[in-house]
Amino acid sequence: MQFDTVIRGGTIVTAMDTYAGDIGILDGRITSIAQMLPVENATKVIDATARLVMPGGIDAHTHLDMPFGGTNSADDFESGTIAAAYGGTTTLIDFAIQLKGQSLRQAFETWMKKADRKAAIDYAFHCIITDLGDAQLEEMNTLIHEGVSSFKLFMAYPGVLMVDDATIFRAMSQAAKYNGLICMHAENGGVIDVLVRKALAEGKRAPKYHALTRPTTAEGEATGRAIALAEMAGAPVYIVHLSCNDALEKVREARDRGVPVYAETCPQYLYLSLENMDAPGFEAAKYVFTPPLREKWHQEKLWQGLARDTLQVVSTDHCPFCFKEQKELGRDDFTKIPNGGPGIEHRLSLVYTGGVHGGRFSPNRFVQLVATAPAKLFGLYPRKGTIAVGADADIVVFDPNESQVISASTHHMKVDYSMFEGIRVKGVPKTVLSRGRPVIENGKFVGRAGSGEFIRRQGFTGA
Ligand code: URP
Ligand code: ZN
Ligand code: ZN
Repeated sequence: MQFDTVIRGGTIVTAMDTYAGDIGILDGRITSIAQMLPVENATKVIDATARLVMPGGIDAHTHLDMPFGGTNSADDFESGTIAAAYGGTTTLIDFAIQLKGQSLRQAFETWMKKADRKAAIDYAFHCIITDLGDAQLEEMNTLIHEGVSSFKLFMAYPGVLMVDDATIFRAMSQAAKYNGLICMHAENGGVIDVLVRKALAEGKRAPKYHALTRPTTAEGEATGRAIALAEMAGAPVYIVHLSCNDALEKVREARDRGVPVYAETCPQYLYLSLENMDAPGFEAAKYVFTPPLREKWHQEKLWQGLARDTLQVVSTDHCPFCFKEQKELGRDDFTKIPNGGPGIEHRLSLVYTGGVHGGRFSPNRFVQLVATAPAKLFGLYPRKGTIAVGADADIVVFDPNESQVISASTHHMKVDYSMFEGIRVKGVPKTVLSRGRPVIENGKFVGRAGSGEFIRRQGFTGA
């Protein structure tokens, strides 16, 4: 048997199984899995003794090189995908934003150019719809056939990104017809806007007021409304960056009734809380993202949601802005702080630490949350998201016992702070393969910017 690479002696972990086995790789694909593979004809042998061998992570929610509030997110497709690879992510799904008046194709082409010759791992796109005329409605079908099979709509940010219920309903109906999936930013933007204007009029301008003007009820209400619209349209819906119990309860109730509702949360909502917004001076600007941080008790509810399958996915919503010069744009007015936080690099370590070492779920559930479920929901499976013969050799050799302290002084994201500064994680990716090519070896980047490929995703077929 001829292999380019054999991964030897590890414990293979998929969403279903845990077993000892070797993996043989040829031409970027997994061609063999067996208890003992011959290595004489392999060009490279990776020793995975005492390590877990799992499918590469899939981050279904990132914003690389994204314009926001007069600036651009700090990581482009080169630095962002390299940081992702360090953290064991081998595919990301970013967002191509349609500006008002544009076709969806223009948005797609703009983001394809941003990623071209920069990405070090594979990537795909959702399309953010801000303007849905009849022409764009038709285009949804074309885009789905070209591999952009999901669309994000905003129920917040009036005047910028927000669309009304009729638009959401039309988009959902079209998605249902052509196997697309609508991803929903669920917050009641109208109410939040009133609360924001009231806070400013009262002279409340500090970063903390970003969180205090976006109540959990506004997220719960919008989540419930998004689900109701999806039910009326006969469409599935995926709630992005779910942050609180109010929204979780809406998802749980709908799923109990058999409604095809899916949802993700992000590590910041599992590890950080409203207490972070009490940081001195302007420091709390580091945690200005949307939805905002919540009271601490919501964290355990979200972990339970992950364990019980109310939540199916952990993504990062990676949208980094440097503290200096970017977050500082809002020093005198919280509404001018660019919304977003950096997280692309530490998702696997954080979820493994809190989930598996924290005794909340199994290593298999961990793999499902960070790789298999996003692959299935977003049309990448079985090419990605699992360890199986025929799948892309996107593989992470993971040391479940190595510890690391997260810090901006050692991370690889192009941003001058870490949301998770000082948090000790246990479970670190050591070797990462992207279509059989090493991108991380013994904790060092050995890949190449530009070697990542655009992946045309399949339409939504159910989870
Ligand atoms: O604050 C955030 N989350 N920024 C990125 C845009 C979004 O809503 O996902
Ligand atoms: Zn959003
Ligand atoms: Zn986002």
